[in-house]
Amino acid sequence: MTAAVTALAGAAFGQPPPAPPPAGATTNALNGRQVQAAAMAKQAAHGEELFTARCKGCHMPPVEHAPSRSELAAQFPDVIIDALKTGKMQAMASGLSDDDIASIAVFITGQPPDAKFDVAAEAQDRCPASNRFNPAGPSWNGWSPDKQNTRVAASTTINAANTPKLAVKWAFAYQGGRYGQPTIVGNRVFVTSSSGQVYALDKNTGCVAWSYKARGPVRVTVSVGKNPKAPSGWAAYFGDMNRNEVAVDATTGKELWVVNIDSGGRGILTGAPALWGNVLYVPLSSFEEGVAGLAAYECCKQRGAVAAIDVATGKMLWKSYAIPTAPAPFQKNSVGTQMYGPAGAAIWSSPTIDPKRGVLYVATGDSYTNVEEKYSDAVEAMDLKTGKIRWAHQMTELDHFLVGCPPQRPGVNCPTPNGPDFDFGSSPILKHLKSGKDVLYAGQKSGQVYALNPDDGSLIWQTRIGKGSALGGVEWGMSADNDNLYVGIADRSLPSLSALRLTDGALVWRHRPPDPKCSFTGRCGNGYSGPSTVANGVVFGVNQDGHIRAFKAKTGEMIWDYDTAGRRYDTVNGVKNQRGGNLDATGITFAGGMGFVMAGFNGASGSSGPDNVLLAFSVDGK
Ligand code: HEC
Repeated sequence: MTAAVTALAGAAFGQPPPAPPPAGATTNALNGRQVQAAAMAKQAAHGEELFTARCKGCHMPPVEHAPSRSELAAQFPDVIIDALKTGKMQAMASGLSDDDIASIAVFITGQPPDAKFDVAAEAQDRCPASNRFNPAGPSWNGWSPDKQNTRVAASTTINAANTPKLAVKWAFAYQGGRYGQPTIVGNRVFVTSSSGQVYALDKNTGCVAWSYKARGPVRVTVSVGKNPKAPSGWAAYFGDMNRNEVAVDATTGKELWVVNIDSGGRGILTGAPALWGNVLYVPLSSFEEGVAGLAAYECCKQRGAVAAIDVATGKMLWKSYAIPTAPAPFQKNSVGTQMYGPAGAAIWSSPTIDPKRGVLYVATGDSYTNVEEKYSDAVEAMDLKTGKIRWAHQMTELDHFLVGCPPQRPGVNCPTPNGPDFDFGSSPILKHLKSGKDVLYAGQKSGQVYALNPDDGSLIWQTRIGKGSALGGVEWGMSADNDNLYVGIADRSLPSLSALRLTDGALVWRHRPPDPKCSFTGRCGNGYSGPSTVANGVVFGVNQDGHIRAFKAKTGEMIWDYDTAGRRYDTVNGVKNQRGGNLDATGITFAGGMGFVMAGFNGASGSSGPDNVLLAFSVDGK
């Protein structure tokens, strides 16, 4: 960091103003308040020292991949605390006490460590007892309504004629980042949050049927299925950032089992679990990419994997690593700590099931160390029964990458050279074409889209439709009907949403979003980073600028543009004036006459602060 930036930082973020007392504090005891303010100022000063020593390098402008200090300031303290204790920033908090961590949160946010988002509530807006879960009816269950991950909303009545009349029927506000996509089953919508809270809401009214506090932040999408051991016969499945996969009764939210699918290390769960028969397939991702600067850390040992779990018992049937070779010592880092490899090939997205071939397909992320292997940035087929890798096709070789490795100031564990970070972040799509052929499609952060033969992974065609970068190219997903693939590109310059012909990858149409003008505060971009959705000949794209845009699938004609942050919502759970925001990572889901989207994503590619809502759409809001 340059001296100029340091000086500026010092001026802008000296001492935070004394914050108001937390809710519930005695307001008539002036003396008590002064004592409290003094204690907070002391805590903030301690937090500032730690922030300067440990965080400033990456979180003060110019920031690379990381949210800036002022963006973090818009969060509630528990978001910072969770990130350091159980989330993405655990590595940066090694050796810190709970008190140190709370102090950093106080310094960054200027609020007491237990300040909370005012969810007026859950408790106030419980569904009546007569409102029971009824799984019958239109659904969008999991990442995609089908096992092939096409993201086609087969059960919806939303079409080109009524899309322009879509309006918000109700909104629901809650704390935490919005990573999980809304799952719709019968009369319920299931949503997750980085606060660790998982909710089952009534689809029509938004009342809370149950909520469940997980053992860590949750960013996966819920999958629901029949379960012989669940009292109501149905279970909801999701995983947390501490690698616990959980089953709860879908009617009551009562826990059925919890399995930790990866004990130590820096693994996380991000992709929706895929359900097939009585087995749940859980993809394992990781945040080990953040250890560049940790001198004593034995980088790197984390590998992507899939765990197969028996839904009735929670027993792990098998666990198969995306890189079959276990990491072994290979060199010392620049301060003498032993390094390991191969590592990487995190699986960020939901597996795609192919019952005909008896396999599942996954797409993997980059490698973390200089040890060569053939499984990172790859598409793989694993046997459904054993997890054995049937084939793997690596698209980018030698993409060894850690965050925090600028050439002028690389961390001690940085690979040489540091790769382009061309992960696959999205699920492969399996299509049965009109010609009778099956084809597997995958989109990469490089901006490339591939069509593969599902029998052996061989290439049928490939095309590049974006420049690609760490946060560009195809990030979180594509969709496909019987003619085209619909591909969002998140590149900073020339982002797009395109239709590519399934048979040969030819460009059918391309939409370029307008320059970003965001109706929310925080980082503003206009990439199509979130996945697209198809409903009866309409393609829905979600943009980082907070807009949902709908296009005729055949022609690309835009028929609807809705700015989720352009208005304020009084939510069904009593929060006034909430706003939508940046859309990313997950898409809009439709079932029956309704659609659901999480507006406001607090993540790497943008942050809109705590202004976030779940929006429920219907025709004319009826
Ligand atoms: C080596 C660089 C680096 C350092 C040092 C670092 N961070 Fe981060 N931080 C990042 C990056 C990169 C991200 C975005 C990660 C992502 O979204 O994938 C991030 C994200 C975060 C987030 C958001 C987490 C989320 O779930 O979206 C918080 C909060 C955070 N950092 C706090 C801190 C604090 C506090 C410190 C110091 C104790 C710290 N960071 C040190 C690079 C760093």
